[in-house]
Amino acid sequence: MARYDWKELYDSMDGCTKCRLCEQRNSIVIGEGDPSADIMFVGEGPGRDEDLSGRPFVGPAGKLLDKMIEAINLKREEVYIANIVKCRPPNNRAPELSEAEACLPYLRAQFALIRPKIIVCLGATAAKYIYDENVKITRDRGIWKENKGIWILPTYHPAALLRDESKKRESWEDMKKLRQKYDDISQKA
Ligand code: URA
Repeated sequence: MARYDWKELYDSMDGCTKCRLCEQRNSIVIGEGDPSADIMFVGEGPGRDEDLSGRPFVGPAGKLLDKMIEAINLKREEVYIANIVKCRPPNNRAPELSEAEACLPYLRAQFALIRPKIIVCLGATAAKYIYDENVKITRDRGIWKENKGIWILPTYHPAALLRDESKKRESWEDMKKLRQKYDDISQKA
């Protein structure tokens, strides 16, 4: 996608019909947070609460994400939160390849505008489309990847933590690694 400014990006998404997720959506959930954040969190796609409100991660998984962010002494407003697909997949199914591919140019444009230093992939879908189609989240979570100067950290999706509390310990390890990397990067800047 050509380099956009924010207005052009928002205009280009307005009324998007690039995939069939447009058919049932109430909102296009673009993302929110600090437009020059050092850290971006990327999830899979909006759920019911997000579709109704137009805001990412505001339902139960979002409340947990807020706590995870606060646990490492950051505020939700200091990071940027987005998703692989901007429209809700029916019944919260994972986005199909064609849907993700249709929507990824918007996320890439967000990366280009925000220029985060760190991208946290929340769950396998985000990790798969952002850096490795063969990712296995149970195997690869917590392992940093560097791509063109951007640090990428895959970790569990907060919804997975709500389904299986035993994953919370590993998730906390990942969040501490995130805080450490953020501090390291901030010191160098
Ligand atoms: N799950 C996601 O992946 N994204 C949201 O915005 C909400 C729930």
